[in-house]
Amino acid sequence: MIILKVNGAEQKLEVDPDMPLLWVLRDVLGLTGTKYGCGQALCGACVVHLDGETVRACVTPVKRAAGGSVTTIEGLSPTGDHPLQRAWVELGVPQCGFCQAGQIMSAAALLRKNPRPSNDDIDRSLAGNICRCGTYTRIRAAVRKAAGLPTE
Ligand code: FES
Ligand code: FES
Repeated sequence: MIILKVNGAEQKLEVDPDMPLLWVLRDVLGLTGTKYGCGQALCGACVVHLDGETVRACVTPVKRAAGGSVTTIEGLSPTGDHPLQRAWVELGVPQCGFCQAGQIMSAAALLRKNPRPSNDDIDRSLAGNICRCGTYTRIRAAVRKAAGLPTE
């Protein structure tokens, strides 16, 4: 049995310890906000936080999260009003939306460590999050807005 916290709630899971965390989140716990893109740690669609650090859930065996605390896009703010989520809505960032949960989770980890990031900081931190719709300009503006910086 694997015991871990997901979005603050303890979960006791009878799953294969090598099952990817992404499978556990989506298929076992029904948290489908975290997306499956490449399955090979290449696109960032599956980024969640494990003990406050970003991980790619598609290549993270659930056993690595045992005893830890996972946060997904559903748990970033219980009411969906994290500054990044508000900025995302206000600036209409998403196009198809598929990459956006991963983008926001990477941005949230950035802002926690660096509350006033430069454009370079933002670009570097989100470089591993691919957006096939090319929303990068709006993503950067929304991160700046959430940080209280001019959106340019
Ligand atoms: S689905 Fe995990 S990095 Fe692409
Ligand atoms: S909004 Fe479509 S992939 Fe990013």
